[in-house]
Amino acid sequence: MDINKILVTPLKLPKLEPASWDHFWQVWQRDAKQYTRRAADSAGNNKLYPGWNGLVWELHPPEVHKWQTMWDVTTKDYSSEFPEMRAIIDALPFKTIRVLFQSNYAEIGEHTDGMSLTDHLPYACAVRYMFYDSNTEPNFYFCRKLKGERTYLKLPEDTNAFTYNNPKLYHAAHYLGKLKIVAHFVIDKIDEEKWFKILEDSVTAYPDSCIIEQ
Ligand SMILES: [Fe+2]
Repeated sequence: MDINKILVTPLKLPKLEPASWDHFWQVWQRDAKQYTRRAADSAGNNKLYPGWNGLVWELHPPEVHKWQTMWDVTTKDYSSEFPEMRAIIDALPFKTIRVLFQSNYAEIGEHTDGMSLTDHLPYACAVRYMFYDSNTEPNFYFCRKLKGERTYLKLPEDTNAFTYNNPKLYHAAHYLGKLKIVAHFVIDKIDEEKWFKILEDSVTAYPDSCIIEQ
């Protein structure tokens, strides 16, 4: 199949989850805070609250990968707190620079991402995990054009990982008053042979949850 036609698919990968949710919630209580923008955006908005609460996990020392400075939010290397999740992340066929644990507490409008090194690539490689979601209704959606037809993310039971083609789709999230945390991966150096195999295996495994370009 034409790999570039895969717009959204759950990923046939191990779930990203902590060995102990109690431990995770302790860390979340301690460190999660509302993201504010440190520098003005393209519209000149400084200290803007985009509507997210959370924390940022940096996976490399700052001299190897400069730690994020865009958001005024807790930014640490959590590898020693969550070695089991670090092992899951390190097994992925790309280099993970950081993971943004983002919980939206407001409506996030339709947009494309443009921060990371791979957001422009022609194939699906925006890697996200629906890390925690207490909503009973779908709340994360995609559309081909602004205000266009919405397709809600539908994840199977056996994975919490998904990917989408960032340049070809807008994505957005409702806030329905319930906690959800998306793990947003900032990545580089994708091993395309391995990644394309995962994409193909994933669309085969989850045909009812994919969006394929016609
Ligand atoms: Fe986004």
